[in-house]
Amino acid sequence: MDRYAVFGNPIAHSKSPFIHTRFAAQTGEAISYEALLAPLDGFAQAVAAFRTAGGRGANVTVPFKLEAFSLANRRSARAEAAGAANTLIFDDDGIAADNTDGIGLVRDLAYLGCELAGRRILLLGAGGAARGAILPLCEAVPAELVIANRTAEKAEALAQQFSPIAPGIAACGFDALAGRSFDIVINATSASLSGAAPALPNSVYAPNAFAYDMMYGRDETAFLAAARAQGASRLADGLGMLVEQAAESFFLWRGKRPATEPVRQALRALLAEAR
Ligand code: ATR
Repeated sequence: MDRYAVFGNPIAHSKSPFIHTRFAAQTGEAISYEALLAPLDGFAQAVAAFRTAGGRGANVTVPFKLEAFSLANRRSARAEAAGAANTLIFDDDGIAADNTDGIGLVRDLAYLGCELAGRRILLLGAGGAARGAILPLCEAVPAELVIANRTAEKAEALAQQFSPIAPGIAACGFDALAGRSFDIVINATSASLSGAAPALPNSVYAPNAFAYDMMYGRDETAFLAAARAQGASRLADGLGMLVEQAAESFFLWRGKRPATEPVRQALRALLAEAR
């Protein structure tokens, strides 16, 4: 059996083993997949030990995505754009880093029937999650992409960094959004983790607007509850993105594309059971 794992800290609640075990069963791939807790100051050592023990690849989650990117000796264009890696591939040439989060987001939005081309998109946040979404969102050719962050300077720095490949991106703080409307509002802040929602003006949701939270949980996230109250018509959490990014990692490792629909359903049922 080829071994894979997800590294994080904390990691106990990761759904990645659940997802990849189902992908493996579905595609007939003989792999094992475990969740491994890496010490905060011992990520590189944990990865090295796993490789020595026969590991073929890994997913990487909070707080190690930047370190994973640095650890690799080869990096995909989408990992370079994100400045972070969530997927590592171990082979005879060393460690290759990729980032499947952004494509996971775009595939989930497509699955949900949320067209991006020609739409006005507002991306909330300027941390790693937002950064990883910029390139794939731009590739979908929206009419407009605005990055807004609680700390406006961070959004501006991000837009500046991406200006060579995506010159049309605008950036601002939340207050500057007053009077502006968007078709799609994507929450890439970590506010939902603490049960908070970014403080957005009421104008941001255009008629029929779609609100998407990269976070997910048993209950509706604070961002989605606020979006509903502010008039968003369609709402989705990040469960589908989690499954889609995993499917892309699985494809990188095994060359097979698992069907994501049954795994979405199984994961949704698992969350409902936890109620
Ligand atoms: P990640 O890698 O998950 O993006 P991060 O790099 O720590 O995490 O970034 C967290 C993001 O969430 C930041 O954009 C942060 O805003 P600031 O740059 O102003 O700190 C945002 N964030 C966290 N809590 C928030 C809240 N309660 N309201 C609005 N934005 C919040």
